[in-house]
Amino acid sequence: MIITLVGYMGSGKSHVAKVLSQKLQLKIIDLDREISLKNKMTIPEIFAKKGEIYFRKQERETLHQLLNTHSAGILSLGGGTPCFYDNMETINQLTESFFLRASVGTLVTRLSSQMDKRPLIAHLNPEDLPEFIAKHLFERNVYYSKAKFTITTDGKNPEQVADEIWALV
Ligand code: S3P
Repeated sequence: MIITLVGYMGSGKSHVAKVLSQKLQLKIIDLDREISLKNKMTIPEIFAKKGEIYFRKQERETLHQLLNTHSAGILSLGGGTPCFYDNMETINQLTESFFLRASVGTLVTRLSSQMDKRPLIAHLNPEDLPEFIAKHLFERNVYYSKAKFTITTDGKNPEQVADEIWALV
Protein backbone atom coordinates (compact mmCIF):
# COMPACT_ATOMS: atom_id res chain seq x y z
CA MET A 1 0.00 0.00 0.00
CA ILE A 2 1.16 3.51 -0.83
CA ILE A 3 -0.19 6.31 1.37
CA THR A 4 0.04 9.69 -0.34
CA LEU A 5 0.12 12.95 1.58
CA VAL A 6 -1.34 15.91 -0.27
CA GLY A 7 -1.51 19.53 0.89
CA TYR A 8 -0.29 23.09 0.64
CA MET A 9 3.30 24.08 1.51
CA GLY A 10 3.58 24.08 5.29
CA SER A 11 0.67 21.69 5.84
CA GLY A 12 3.00 19.23 7.57
CA LYS A 13 3.40 16.57 4.87
CA SER A 14 7.06 15.86 5.63
CA HIS A 15 6.62 15.73 9.42
CA VAL A 16 3.56 13.51 9.21
CA ALA A 17 5.34 11.25 6.70
CA LYS A 18 8.17 10.75 9.21
CA VAL A 19 5.87 9.80 12.08
CA LEU A 20 3.68 7.61 9.90
CA SER A 21 6.63 5.75 8.41
CA GLN A 22 7.77 4.79 11.93
CA LYS A 23 4.30 3.71 13.00
CA LEU A 24 3.57 1.67 9.88
CA GLN A 25 7.13 0.55 9.14
CA LEU A 26 6.85 1.91 5.62
CA LYS A 27 9.57 3.88 3.93
CA ILE A 28 9.23 7.55 2.98
CA ILE A 29 9.24 8.46 -0.69
CA ASP A 30 9.70 12.23 -0.96
CA LEU A 31 8.87 13.50 -4.45
CA ASP A 32 10.78 16.82 -4.14
CA ARG A 33 13.84 14.96 -2.85
CA GLU A 34 13.76 12.55 -5.81
CA ILE A 35 13.42 15.43 -8.30
CA SER A 36 16.30 17.19 -6.60
CA LEU A 37 18.54 14.08 -6.70
CA LYS A 38 17.70 13.39 -10.34
CA ASN A 39 18.54 16.94 -11.38
CA LYS A 40 21.48 17.36 -8.99
CA MET A 41 20.00 20.71 -7.90
CA THR A 42 17.88 21.94 -5.01
CA ILE A 43 14.23 22.78 -5.78
CA PRO A 44 14.89 26.57 -5.59
CA GLU A 45 17.83 26.08 -8.02
CA ILE A 46 15.62 24.15 -10.47
CA PHE A 47 13.01 26.97 -10.39
CA ALA A 48 15.70 29.64 -10.83
CA LYS A 49 17.74 27.92 -13.57
CA LYS A 50 15.14 25.93 -15.49
CA GLY A 51 11.81 27.57 -14.62
CA GLU A 52 8.52 26.32 -13.23
CA ILE A 53 7.33 24.56 -16.42
CA TYR A 54 10.46 22.40 -16.46
CA PHE A 55 9.91 21.64 -12.75
CA ARG A 56 6.27 20.62 -13.33
CA LYS A 57 7.31 18.23 -16.14
CA GLN A 58 9.98 16.70 -13.91
CA GLU A 59 7.42 16.41 -11.12
CA ARG A 60 4.99 14.51 -13.33
CA GLU A 61 7.66 12.23 -14.80
CA THR A 62 9.18 11.47 -11.39
CA LEU A 63 5.74 10.79 -9.88
CA HIS A 64 5.08 8.19 -12.61
CA GLN A 65 8.52 6.61 -12.16
CA LEU A 66 8.06 6.33 -8.40
CA LEU A 67 4.59 4.83 -8.69
CA ASN A 68 5.86 2.33 -11.27
CA THR A 69 8.70 1.17 -9.06
CA HIS A 70 7.21 1.15 -5.55
CA SER A 71 4.29 -0.84 -4.22
CA ALA A 72 4.51 0.33 -0.61
CA GLY A 73 5.53 3.51 1.21
CA ILE A 74 4.53 6.94 2.41
CA LEU A 75 4.62 9.26 -0.58
CA SER A 76 5.06 12.91 0.35
CA LEU A 77 4.17 15.20 -2.58
CA GLY A 78 5.03 18.81 -3.33
CA GLY A 79 2.24 21.29 -2.62
CA GLY A 80 1.57 21.80 -6.33
CA THR A 81 1.79 18.18 -7.52
CA PRO A 82 -1.98 17.46 -7.44
CA CYS A 83 -2.74 20.63 -9.39
CA PHE A 84 -0.93 19.90 -12.67
CA TYR A 85 -1.66 17.52 -15.57
CA ASP A 86 -3.73 14.50 -14.50
CA ASN A 87 -1.51 13.89 -11.47
CA MET A 88 -4.38 13.65 -9.00
CA GLU A 89 -6.13 10.97 -11.08
CA THR A 90 -2.89 8.95 -11.22
CA ILE A 91 -2.41 9.35 -7.47
CA ASN A 92 -5.96 8.20 -6.70
CA GLN A 93 -5.74 5.23 -9.06
CA LEU A 94 -2.59 3.86 -7.47
CA THR A 95 -2.56 5.08 -3.86
CA GLU A 96 -4.56 5.94 -0.75
CA SER A 97 -4.52 9.74 -0.79
CA PHE A 98 -4.90 12.00 2.26
CA PHE A 99 -5.36 15.76 2.07
CA LEU A 100 -3.79 17.46 5.08
CA ARG A 101 -6.04 20.52 5.34
CA ALA A 102 -4.75 23.56 7.22
CA SER A 103 -6.31 27.02 7.59
CA VAL A 104 -4.74 30.13 6.05
CA GLY A 105 -3.79 31.30 9.57
CA THR A 106 -1.93 28.07 10.35
CA LEU A 107 -0.12 28.14 7.00
CA VAL A 108 0.91 31.80 7.38
CA THR A 109 2.35 31.07 10.83
CA ARG A 110 4.31 28.08 9.56
CA LEU A 111 5.51 29.62 6.29
CA SER A 112 6.42 33.16 7.32
CA SER A 113 9.79 32.05 8.74
CA GLN A 114 10.73 29.91 5.72
CA MET A 115 9.75 32.09 2.75
CA ASP A 116 13.29 32.19 1.31
CA LYS A 117 13.37 28.39 0.90
CA ARG A 118 10.11 28.30 -1.09
CA PRO A 119 10.44 29.57 -4.65
CA LEU A 120 6.73 30.35 -5.06
CA ILE A 121 6.62 32.74 -2.10
CA ALA A 122 10.25 33.90 -1.85
CA HIS A 123 9.55 37.10 -3.83
CA LEU A 124 6.60 38.26 -1.66
CA ASN A 125 6.56 40.93 1.01
CA PRO A 126 5.76 39.14 4.27
CA GLU A 127 2.66 41.32 4.72
CA ASP A 128 1.26 40.01 1.41
CA LEU A 129 1.63 36.36 2.45
CA PRO A 130 -1.88 35.89 3.96
CA GLU A 131 -3.64 37.20 0.85
CA PHE A 132 -1.39 35.19 -1.47
CA ILE A 133 -2.01 31.96 0.44
CA ALA A 134 -5.77 32.58 0.68
CA LYS A 135 -6.07 33.04 -3.12
CA HIS A 136 -3.70 30.22 -3.99
CA LEU A 137 -5.42 27.82 -1.61
CA PHE A 138 -8.81 28.71 -3.08
CA GLU A 139 -7.54 27.70 -6.55
CA ARG A 140 -5.80 24.58 -5.32
CA ASN A 141 -8.55 23.26 -3.04
CA VAL A 142 -10.38 21.97 -6.12
CA TYR A 143 -7.52 19.51 -6.67
CA TYR A 144 -6.69 18.77 -3.05
CA SER A 145 -10.27 17.88 -2.25
CA LYS A 146 -10.15 15.05 -4.82
CA ALA A 147 -8.04 13.11 -2.29
CA LYS A 148 -9.81 10.03 -0.92
CA PHE A 149 -9.61 11.31 2.68
CA THR A 150 -9.33 14.78 4.25
CA ILE A 151 -7.69 15.33 7.64
CA THR A 152 -8.00 18.72 9.32
CA THR A 153 -4.66 19.50 10.89
CA ASP A 154 -5.19 22.85 12.68
CA GLY A 155 -4.12 22.64 16.31
CA LYS A 156 -2.89 19.05 15.90
CA ASN A 157 0.68 17.79 16.07
CA PRO A 158 2.12 15.36 13.45
CA GLU A 159 1.63 12.46 15.88
CA GLN A 160 -2.12 13.13 16.13
CA VAL A 161 -2.48 13.56 12.37
CA ALA A 162 -0.54 10.31 11.76
CA ASP A 163 -2.83 8.48 14.21
CA GLU A 164 -5.93 9.68 12.35
CA ILE A 165 -4.48 8.42 9.08
CA TRP A 166 -3.49 5.13 10.68
CA ALA A 167 -7.07 4.62 11.88
CA LEU A 168 -8.33 4.98 8.30
CA VAL A 169 -5.98 2.66 6.41
C1 S3P B 1 5.45 23.75 -4.40
C2 S3P B 1 5.69 23.17 -3.17
C3 S3P B 1 7.01 22.65 -2.76
C4 S3P B 1 7.86 22.31 -3.99
C5 S3P B 1 7.91 23.45 -4.95
C6 S3P B 1 6.52 23.88 -5.44
C7 S3P B 1 4.10 24.25 -4.73
O1 S3P B 1 6.86 21.50 -1.94
O2 S3P B 1 7.37 21.17 -4.64
O3 S3P B 1 8.55 24.53 -4.30
O4 S3P B 1 3.78 24.44 -5.92
O5 S3P B 1 3.28 24.39 -3.79
P1 S3P B 1 6.35 21.53 -0.40
O6 S3P B 1 4.86 21.56 -0.41
O7 S3P B 1 6.89 20.28 0.18
O8 S3P B 1 6.95 22.76 0.22
